[in-house]
Amino acid sequence: MQHILITGGAGFIGSHVVRHFVKKYTGSTIVNVDKLTYAGNLLNLTDIEQEKNYHFVKGDIVDGDFVFSLFEKHQPDTVIHLAAESHVDRSIANPMAFVHTNVLGTVNLLNAARHHWKDEPDDKRFYHISTDEVYGSLGDEGLFTEETPYDPRSPYSASKASSDHFVRAYWHTYGLPVVLSNCSNNYGPNQFPEKLIPLFIHNIIQKKPLPVYGKGENVRDWLYVEDHAVAIDAIVRNGKLGETYNIGGHNEWKNIDLIRLLCKIMDEKLGRNPGTSEGLITYVKDRAGHDLRYAIDASKVKDELGWVPSVTFEEGVSKTVDWYLANDEWLRQVTSGDYMQYYREQYEER
Ligand code: NAD
Ligand code: TYD
Repeated sequence: MQHILITGGAGFIGSHVVRHFVKKYTGSTIVNVDKLTYAGNLLNLTDIEQEKNYHFVKGDIVDGDFVFSLFEKHQPDTVIHLAAESHVDRSIANPMAFVHTNVLGTVNLLNAARHHWKDEPDDKRFYHISTDEVYGSLGDEGLFTEETPYDPRSPYSASKASSDHFVRAYWHTYGLPVVLSNCSNNYGPNQFPEKLIPLFIHNIIQKKPLPVYGKGENVRDWLYVEDHAVAIDAIVRNGKLGETYNIGGHNEWKNIDLIRLLCKIMDEKLGRNPGTSEGLITYVKDRAGHDLRYAIDASKVKDELGWVPSVTFEEGVSKTVDWYLANDEWLRQVTSGDYMQYYREQYEER
């Protein structure tokens, strides 16, 4: 791993991955390519932007010529592909953006890798980061394994499933050296406040309603984002080519239970009377096609690569809340402008 290209490195997970690699692999060059959509933010990387082994390139992976020139210029031997449209609600409102970035963008990267690596594929690696949502929705029992058949049910998960299929097709058809992982819900600092945890932290600070979809009975398996970055490091180095690794937190929470925990922690940290934040809970119209439950069997990545999550949920939520409280300027910046319009469209009708 001399020249590592990370896509989507200005986003939530990507920025933690970039930081992890820049700090750990000081002898390698890390190039972060990101379009800086609403979800991409260079403020996420101010602490490492001056490092000599780090370079940022603004660009759109949907532009095939740009992607080819990027490979030409930086000659990556390793690609860690995170760039994506990532929010289910936005995919319901505008599926096409997800087809463009998640499907076309991924295929552009695969084509560039195939072309540039055709003579010496052996020491190269294309690592595609995906989601557990491609497996569909579980009932009360069971876990997603790497063998679970794909059954994507939202435009977001359908676009990610499609990109996963293309990555595997390039392995089988052209021998492109690929590896994939499918991870459960991440949380932590720098997550855009459209996803459940940062949105609710933001609304609690502002004493705004907490819009719980349906009855709040949906279940997600939560993983602290830095643990995901460590798993990605293990998989890119030691994952078997052509294989998929499921990553999860062994940490299932019903939305309403998680929300109550968050309310309790925030009342304590904000010095508010117990129960203040719970009073903001508002049940709203359910998400269309809302998947009931996701939960990951992460035994393969544990058995083969020795990865297990290290941060407990209570610790992770506490660190996350502390980060948002200490970074009110970041929160103010990302919630000005277009965010207000998004919020109105998403929640006023519910
Ligand atoms: P995010 O929305 O926070 O960040 C996505 C980044 O990609 C942003 O910086 C954005 O500017 C960039 N981007 C979007 N379109 C682009 C384009 N056309 N060209 C270049 N850059 C573009 O997403 P995230 O939550 O950090 O997720 C990162 C990856 O991890 C995604 O592939 C997602 O599917 C996957 N994933 C996320 C989760 C989760 O819980 N957030 C869980 C499992 C997998
Ligand atoms: P989200 O963070 O959007 O992640 P995903 O849909 O990819 O799992 O949502 C997590 C859960 O929280 C999901 O069951 C939907 C629910 N949710 C709400 O109840 N209210 C909200 O405002 C949001 C954004 C999510």
